[in-house]
Amino acid sequence: MAKYRIAWLPGDGVGNEVLEASKIVLEKLKFDAEYIDGDIGWEFWCKEGNPLPDRTVDLLKNVDAALFGAITSKPIWTSHEELAPELQDKGLVYRSPIVRMRQEFNLYNCQRPTKAYKGNPLNFKEDIDIVVFRENTEDLYSGVEFPTVPKEVAKCLEENNPNFKKFSGLAGDEYAISCKINTKKGSENIIRAAFEYCKEHGRKKLTVVHKSNVVRASDGLFYQTARELSKEYPMVELDEGNIDAMTMWILKNPERFEVLVAPNLYGDIISDLCAQLVGGLGFACSGNIGENLAVFEPTHGSAPKYYGQYKVNPIATFLSAKMMLDWLGEKEEAERLEKAISEVIEEGKVRTYDMGGSNSTLEMAEAVAAKL
Ligand code: IPM
Ligand code: MG
Repeated sequence: MAKYRIAWLPGDGVGNEVLEASKIVLEKLKFDAEYIDGDIGWEFWCKEGNPLPDRTVDLLKNVDAALFGAITSKPIWTSHEELAPELQDKGLVYRSPIVRMRQEFNLYNCQRPTKAYKGNPLNFKEDIDIVVFRENTEDLYSGVEFPTVPKEVAKCLEENNPNFKKFSGLAGDEYAISCKINTKKGSENIIRAAFEYCKEHGRKKLTVVHKSNVVRASDGLFYQTARELSKEYPMVELDEGNIDAMTMWILKNPERFEVLVAPNLYGDIISDLCAQLVGGLGFACSGNIGENLAVFEPTHGSAPKYYGQYKVNPIATFLSAKMMLDWLGEKEEAERLEKAISEVIEEGKVRTYDMGGSNSTLEMAEAVAAKL
């Protein structure tokens, strides 16, 4: 029996191609794993009305980790048109399967390292090495939304908050509410994970990203929790900034930041910004980490327009696989893989289109595998 069971979730579009490339690389490592295919994605929404079928949820309960490719999501009005005819009238609502996985398995810790590998022609600056910690289950992603607002909800808000006055009198379908819910426990979990990372990796500064000057309740709670926890980590300097200002500072002086921690939506935004500084989506790796399961994925989408061309850069997925090895405790293999990737980038002989080259997804995989 293999030492590890890995759920293999290609998903949609180029997700298939970057996972195929990753298999080439992983099979060259000393990594004793059995890969088990799982169904996920748009195809299963259309055919079964569920992009994350129960059998895949069951599979995830019985693996050590998962590697996931990409997902196609479409807006609410088109997502229904593509449902199988017999599913049309069932009142089904599309929900992103990656967001569901994060919530159902409490993968609260979304880690997104963004490092400027030497020789990458896409680096914005050379000395960038930022790790983003994004809370991954709550905030504006809580899914508590009212596309039309029930009367009882409006009544309750009116009775409990004077600021609601300016909305009272609106009909239910004249406005919409999406709740930003942040818990003390959820905030603590991600902030502690970020502090622990700093401690373990000798990072000296943790920057909390928030908007507590305006979003006083939920962001106030997040920032306050960071201030409290920081007392337990005297070796780490606690720094902070509002999300708007932070986007400017990170762009201006990315080398000044080491580790960022943010509630879900700000983390989503700021991790894309950081990724772009070191090469964009072809380099953006991520881990969705919980107590019992972790799902690793490149943060790019399924890129339907490139699907079938084996064109996209698989490095983001290789770096996600590297994170997976680290998380499983296979530190040596993780290091070997990262070294091979960074050598290929630095040599610059094999480059995908985003890097200005013409090599394919699989040629990039062969180049990295050849270094292993
Ligand atoms: C990400 C993506 C997802 C998110 C989408 C695909 C639901 O943007 O992983 O950053 O918003 O979290
Ligand atoms: Mg995103």
